Amino acid sequence: MPDHPATDASRRTILQFAGAALATAVAPFPALAQATASLKIGMVGSGREGGALGTAWAKAGHQVMFSSRHPEELKSLVETAGPKAQAGTVAQAVAFGDIVVLVVPYTAIEQIGKEYGPAVAAKVLVIDVSNPIPRRDGEEFVKSINDQGGAGLATAKMIPGAKIVRAFNAIGYAKIAEDANRAGGLVGVPIAGDDPKAIAVASDLIKEIGFEPVLVGGLAMGKYLVPGTPLGGEHTAAEIKQIAATLH
Ligand SMILES: NC(=O)c1ccc[n+]([C@@H]2O[C@H](COP(=O)([O-])OP(=O)(O)OC[C@H]3O[C@@H](n4cnc5c(N)ncnc54)[C@H](OP(=O)(O)O)[C@@H]3O)[C@@H](O)[C@H]2O)c1
Repeated sequence: MPDHPATDASRRTILQFAGAALATAVAPFPALAQATASLKIGMVGSGREGGALGTAWAKAGHQVMFSSRHPEELKSLVETAGPKAQAGTVAQAVAFGDIVVLVVPYTAIEQIGKEYGPAVAAKVLVIDVSNPIPRRDGEEFVKSINDQGGAGLATAKMIPGAKIVRAFNAIGYAKIAEDANRAGGLVGVPIAGDDPKAIAVASDLIKEIGFEPVLVGGLAMGKYLVPGTPLGGEHTAAEIKQIAATLH
């Protein structure tokens, strides 16, 4: 059993509710009024993974602002992503987005929370793609994150009130374009979150770039959405459901 209070039945209920909830979820966000409407997406982190995801959403018709502490270095990314893309500072991307996507080294989340927490928490959705990685971030740091319940709960603690959905955490940047709309069965994207409205919006954004979202539980399940756990790597939606049922 997943270590989330949701049973399979209640997870099904969440999924059903999430679909039905989209219309009310988006009421304060006119651009979200239709699932397929063009959203404004603020990318906090526009390196390998953020660049690939933002490009996919820009090519799907959304308005994307890539950000960097050196936005002048994002020219070629913006050119590749096409006319829906632009570059700005982190503050500009946070202000721009109807939703925000965090694709930074996990060690940066605390500082982002301190600098932009209230603005990020006001968004209808924050997609957290960031992972604590021992080799990059240090064993001690990753232990401290795990002691707080792992990635997901720790992100929520560092950005209080944010409607976080973890997604794409173990799909490598080079695979985003390659795996999109995979023939013979879509690649599943395990997602974890507590806010049904945020889950509904995230699910649509994932589908729009050719992947199949699979809600595996609440943010407490976010600790499994990192490379190196059974849910890491690429799986079909059916495989993800089977694996998630064994986790707790
Ligand atoms: N690479 C993958 O295939 C992959 C797959 C799934 C998940 N992830 C996760 O995604 C995250 C990013 O990985 P990546 O490979 O894309 O890294 P990357 O290529 O090194 O890019 C990191 C990005 O984070 C930004 N950044 C770093 N510190 C920041 C701060 N304090 N404030 C604002 N922005 C900051 C950098 O912007 P500047 O230009 O300002 O330095 C850069 O745009 C990691 O947590 C990783 O585990 C990666």
